[in-house]
Amino acid sequence: MTAAGRGALPALLPLLLLAGAGLCPAAPHAAPPRFNVSLDAAPELRWLPVLRHYDLDSVRAAVAQIIGDRVPRWVHALIGKAALVLEHLLPQPFTGEIRGMCDVLSLSLADCLLVNLAYESSAFCTSIVAQDSRGGIYHGRNLDYAFGNILRKLTLDVQFLKNGQVVFTGTTFIGYVGLWTGQRPHKFTISGNERDEGWWWENVIAALFQRHSLISWLLRTTLSESENFEAAVYKLAKTPLIADVYYIVGGTSSREGVVITRKRGGPVDIWPLDPLNGAWFRVETNYDHWKPAPKRDDRRTAAIKALNATGQANLTLETLFQVLSVVPVCNNFTIYTTVMSAANPDKYMTRIRNLSK
Ligand SMILES: *[C@@H]1O[C@H](CO)[C@@H](O)[C@H](O)[C@H]1NC(C)=O
Ligand SMILES: *[C@@H]1O[C@H](CO)[C@@H](O)[C@H](O)[C@H]1NC(C)=O
Ligand SMILES: *[C@@H]1O[C@H](CO)[C@@H](O)[C@H](O)[C@H]1NC(C)=O
Ligand SMILES: *[C@@H]1O[C@H](CO)[C@@H](O)[C@H](O)[C@H]1NC(C)=O
Repeated sequence: MTAAGRGALPALLPLLLLAGAGLCPAAPHAAPPRFNVSLDAAPELRWLPVLRHYDLDSVRAAVAQIIGDRVPRWVHALIGKAALVLEHLLPQPFTGEIRGMCDVLSLSLADCLLVNLAYESSAFCTSIVAQDSRGGIYHGRNLDYAFGNILRKLTLDVQFLKNGQVVFTGTTFIGYVGLWTGQRPHKFTISGNERDEGWWWENVIAALFQRHSLISWLLRTTLSESENFEAAVYKLAKTPLIADVYYIVGGTSSREGVVITRKRGGPVDIWPLDPLNGAWFRVETNYDHWKPAPKRDDRRTAAIKALNATGQANLTLETLFQVLSVVPVCNNFTIYTTVMSAANPDKYMTRIRNLSK
């Protein structure tokens, strides 16, 4: 166990004990590998140095299992026929990066596109953005998903470089070119949480042909292109998407934190930090914040209790990690936890959870 997993936070101990030992918080966790990907290289080539570190057979097996389980047969057949059309319809650098890795893996382009689509459904997540008493902004997230036994081995932190400088950092799975978690140094941080249980594949495919963005591609494009917090929020709120989502964004100065509730066409709700009125954090799981969380899955109340117990004055990346370690915020499906603060980009930290599983 790392130091980050052990910081003392006595107020949380009773909670942990109540929930039972042996669960996520106590299970072993570790840092994922971290790689550089150069945006100066052609999209088809830029991931290949990273891919070399992986056993290609297990990556191929993971792709097959996820598609088999997640993608309806008719969708598989349709995309199989339309892959070449889609490749030209969908934006660079994503399709180039997918094709480059796909060729090395000897997989069909359709399967590689599909796995980049299929990951977008059925993620249960918790994201928190919060402000400390001095105006510092902190952002953390748990990514919960099925296939943990496969995906824990494929999780990586990536630094995307231009001219040798880090333009943005993100956490993803090898072969998956979008990002659900990322940071633009000294500017902002973003996480995405699924909104909607499962997908209406018909609508997703229709939106895809209308050139709406994939959720994780918009997140990455925003990290790559937006110059500041406000521009990032605007882009994430307005760009047409293939499905609903929650985007959580943190900035670098006081009050720069927001939860954006999205439908395909645009924003449903914008929920900023309001520290002057006591709202020094916002917690988003997978339910609209203005509605009660369902009793069968109330990670929200547990996170709020833990944040209350921590107190604004004691907020740091370490205590935020502790909050994200409380059951059921952290649970058997949690694949990784990331904590980040754009003002201190070197502190970006991911831990793969539940390594015993
Ligand atoms: C990644 O890029 C950064 C920034 O250029 C550099 O400092 C670091 O040494 C690189 N890491 C590796 C493993 O090449
Ligand atoms: C957290 O603290 C706020 C402010 O004191 C309080 O209104 C709220 O009920 C608390 N929530 C939980 C779940 O403890
Ligand atoms: C915050 O930390 C201080 C000491 O660093 C401690 O005295 C205080 O009780 C903590 N506050 C809460 C709410 O835990
Ligand atoms: C989570 O995993 C632990 C250990 O494998 C098991 O004892 C527990 O029942 C699981 N919890 C749930 C809610 O599935």
